[in-house]
Parts: sequence; structure tokens; C-alpha cells
Amino acid sequence: MKVRKAVFPVAGLGTRFLPATKAMAKEMLPIVDKPLIQYAVEEAYASGISEIIFITGAGKQAIENHFDHSCELEHMLMARGKDSELKAIHALIPDSGSIIYTRQNQPLGLGHAIWCARNIVGREPFAVLLADDLIKADKPVLKQMIEKFDELQSSIVSVVEVAKEDTSKYGILDAPPLTDGVTKIRGLVEKPKPDEAPSNLAIIGRYILTPEIFDILEGKEVGAGGEIQITDAMARLLESQAIYGYRYSGSRFDCGNKAGFQMANLAFSMERPEIREQLLPFLKDLLKTV
Ligand code: G1P
Repeated sequence: MKVRKAVFPVAGLGTRFLPATKAMAKEMLPIVDKPLIQYAVEEAYASGISEIIFITGAGKQAIENHFDHSCELEHMLMARGKDSELKAIHALIPDSGSIIYTRQNQPLGLGHAIWCARNIVGREPFAVLLADDLIKADKPVLKQMIEKFDELQSSIVSVVEVAKEDTSKYGILDAPPLTDGVTKIRGLVEKPKPDEAPSNLAIIGRYILTPEIFDILEGKEVGAGGEIQITDAMARLLESQAIYGYRYSGSRFDCGNKAGFQMANLAFSMERPEIREQLLPFLKDLLKTV
């Protein structure tokens, strides 16, 4: 079956970016001039996804507004002849009815957030994208994964090698080393301590899951950090299905932390000639002083 639907869990509070996220959704933080969530949504569309499902929470209205018409702004841009801006604003707006919002009305964890999409997704494979993980790639990472899914017809998570001391920040695979970028997973552990981690292969925020995951999440089993974890549910899914780890090609920025967020801004700025021209000499000077 084809992967047509993508779930975006966006209910998280973003406490790491306070006070910036006090009255603003963390997914709306910009990398250069585009909010994080827009990169993720564009990646999904560029990968062939046709239905977008946002799992939102209180205080996330800006995301809905971002993907909707703004009559006042559009009139103003039209009146001022700002055609390219108007085009860019229009390009953002999905077809009527192809974007669905539902609220995660209890903060019970990522697994619970994904479970909230069960009735909307139905019984078909689907993608999950965590907007915090921004990946710069020639071919969108989700597209790379969908191609692998079409070949393997089994759940897939994207992975990257991390330093041993960082395993406690990620879901970690118990799996043999990658062969041609793929490994068949034996087990998964959410945020293990470095000396307990079964490998250094960490899950990055792109998943393709089959609907059986919803049946497992239904059990609402609580795991690491007192939350319902998608990693634990995948570990259970292994009892009935193969799951693969896929080492995507691309550079990933962890925009859920401040340093990663700044790195992403620098890397994406450097690709814009008009910004690079001013930023590069500034950075060279700055480097002499630090
Ligand atoms: C979540 C997942 C974790 C995964 C990570 C990727 O953790 O629970 O398994 O490795 O995303 O970014 P979070 O970053 O939400 O704590």
C-alpha cells in the first residue's frame, strides 16, 4: 500500500525555547524566513504525501493560521504589487480538506500523540514527521524512506550514528551494523544511559509505520519519562513484524535545542546568496574574536 498520509505531532510545549515560546508555538520558530513546521510540511508534499494530519494542543492556533488564507495580508500584497510574496503565501495553502487538525488533549507523550491520529489515518501505512528534526537533503528524506518502504513493505525509522554520551537523548536501536544504509532492528530502547545503550544508532524524527502500531498504542503502556513512547510501541511491534532502520542521506539539524537551531539558521542562510554575502565576512571577523 502507498503512504499517503503524514502525521505531525505539534502539541509539545517547547520549554527549551522559553521565553520565545511562551505565547508562540515552537514549530513556528523560523529558520531564516520559514517556520520549522513549513520545512517539514514541504518535505512531506515533496515526498508524495497528500494528506496532512496535525496533532495540536492549546496555544497552537498560529500553525492553523499559517496554512490558511489571510485575506487582509493578501489584499495588501496585491494592492502593493508584491507579486512574488503573494505567490509564496498562496503556495503554502493546501487543497481544501487535505489538512486535518486534532488535539492531543492530554500531554501523555509522543506515542499517545500519534495514537490520536488513529481514526484519521485508518488502516493504512502512514508517515510521522517531527518538525524539530530538520534535514537538508538533495532528495527529501521522507521520499528516500517511502522508496525503501515500497521495497520492504514494513515499518521504517530513520537513524543516525550518535556519540555514545548522547544516547540518552534518543530512541536507540538494538540492531546489527548498517549494510547499504539499512539494518533490521532486533529491539529498541527509549533514551538509554550510555553504558546501557545497545548501539549508537539513534532514531531521528521520521517514521513510516503500519496501522498495527495503533493497536499496540491502544494499550497506553507508560515507558521512559512516565510517557507513552512510540519507541516502546515499535519494540512491541517487532513481535509481529520486521522494522528497519534507515540511514538517510542528508544533514540533520536538531532544532529542538538552541545550538542546533542556530546551526540550521547558519547553514540555510549560507545557501541564500543575498544573506551569505553579508553573513560570511561577519562570521570570519567574529571567529577572530572568539
Ligand atoms: C523523540 C523520540 C525519540 C527520538 C527523537 C528524535 O524524542 O521519543 O525516540 O529519538 O524524538 O528527535 P524527543 O526529542 O521528543 O524527546
